Amino acid sequence: MNIKLIIAAMLAATSMAAHAGKDMQALMDKAIAESFKPGEGQDLSRLKQDETQMLCSTSRNSPSPKDAEALMTREKATIQYPADGKLMGDWKQGEKLVKSGFGMRIGSIEPDPPAKQKGGNGGNCYACHAVDPKEVAAGNMGPSLTGYGKLRGQGEDIAKYTYEKLYNAQAFVACSNMPRLGHNGILKPAQIADITAYLLSSESPVNK
Ligand code: HEC
Repeated sequence: MNIKLIIAAMLAATSMAAHAGKDMQALMDKAIAESFKPGEGQDLSRLKQDETQMLCSTSRNSPSPKDAEALMTREKATIQYPADGKLMGDWKQGEKLVKSGFGMRIGSIEPDPPAKQKGGNGGNCYACHAVDPKEVAAGNMGPSLTGYGKLRGQGEDIAKYTYEKLYNAQAFVACSNMPRLGHNGILKPAQIADITAYLLSSESPVNK
């Protein structure tokens, strides 16, 4: 990995004024592209920013209200629903996905070998959220989801919001740090419905 080039580009980027943005972006893109080598189970196409990521990057996560609105409308339009139309699936399957941080890793420390991909990607929720009150190892970048269904109810509206939020977090918070799990193909619609059930169901440990 070409760490020196990345550090040089980052230092330059932070110390230079915004009008130098384009050149700096090109330098950063080059540094990043040259720094990751394709390997087993790694998807380097993810290094390329789409329109939404680009807007958040260039505005330092603060697009103008007009741009933010357009971004969220665009992201919302990408949301797809499960074939059977059910937004609440099997909470027990959802629990497994919430606990699994498997898949989508880009570094070379422990790439995901295809053989291990059998279970597919997880949601990696604990990296950022507290969820099951019995699980103490949880991140706090996102709000605690403990008691989510108890607090928010189990009605159709909240199921729809939760499903859509999981499918595409940036349909609601323009430059959210939460991955666009459905949009980016990390999880499938039926899996997102399972996680929605895990968050909302009164049977789920989340709400005990
Ligand atoms: C990289 C960090 C990250 C990961 C991974 C992540 N989230 Fe989030 N999540 C956030 C952040 C930050 C917010 C608050 C900002 C926002 O709403 O977008 C959030 C917000 C939410 C909300 C909205 C909460 C509310 O009160 O409206 C829900 C629901 C949620 N996350 C569920 C999940 C679930 C379930 C998973 C795993 C499938 C997950 N998140 C994975 C960072 C993350």
